[in-house]
Amino acid sequence: MPRERREELLSIAGEFDLLVIEDSPYRQLRYVGESQPTLRSLDREGRAIGLFTFSKILFPGLRLGWVVAEPAIISRLVVAKQPVDCCTSGLSQLLARVYIESGRLPRQVERTREVYAAKRAVLLEALEQCIDPAWGVRWTRPEGGLFLWVELPEWMDARELLDRALAQEQVAFVVGDAFHCDRSGRNTLRLNFSYPGEQQLRQAAARLARCIEPAVAAHRASGTAPAASEEPTPLLVSGEHSLMQLSWNLALSEIVE
Ligand SMILES: Cc1ncc(COP(=O)(O)O)c(C=O)c1O
Repeated sequence: MPRERREELLSIAGEFDLLVIEDSPYRQLRYVGESQPTLRSLDREGRAIGLFTFSKILFPGLRLGWVVAEPAIISRLVVAKQPVDCCTSGLSQLLARVYIESGRLPRQVERTREVYAAKRAVLLEALEQCIDPAWGVRWTRPEGGLFLWVELPEWMDARELLDRALAQEQVAFVVGDAFHCDRSGRNTLRLNFSYPGEQQLRQAAARLARCIEPAVAAHRASGTAPAASEEPTPLLVSGEHSLMQLSWNLALSEIVE
């Protein structure tokens, strides 16, 4: 979100007396472009709350993040959190503290950026090689983070594609409608590039293309869009959760020692 929109957002929050949460798990993972100021740094009224996590820069199993906000908000958050989980694990906090105090974290973040930037480039190149522009598939070139967002042609259903991709090619992705509160976005999906190796990314792009191509050909031959089912497919929450888990971060063994 560019600076002007951030300022606009804060001014709207001021007008309606709202707090704004900026959830920033990927802020440290920028590969190109300029970092934008946090909402909290632009905020003059104590409305912005910044959320950050070690999940993407150290390892997800720590289950540890941090909040940057006005002290009065932090104390309310502490009270709200205590009945939910009886406090974050002391062991996790101690691990993070020892690691941070050792001075290794900046190098770890730098290394994470290098590894992910290279993987991002591999996946982008592989998709360009494997996917014919005439199929009408588009994807983002993200400036940071761990994912590409893919838009299939309007008529194509990402859940059907996932079934085919899993069954025929053993390749997985997260369906895009899981990210829409109204279950729209059925022709969208999210590809992760942080977990697979470079060779696997190339293979995955080729396999995905092998699943998309026949669907495009069949659609062209029939000249009609397949009827959309009336009932939305139920969300496979546990399955998606495990896919997301898989999509996270460097292997533990790769963390800077
Ligand atoms: C946008 C966003 N916010 C928050 C999180 C959660 O991070 P944590 O592992 O600290 O719960 C994620 C993790 O995938 C995320 O993508």
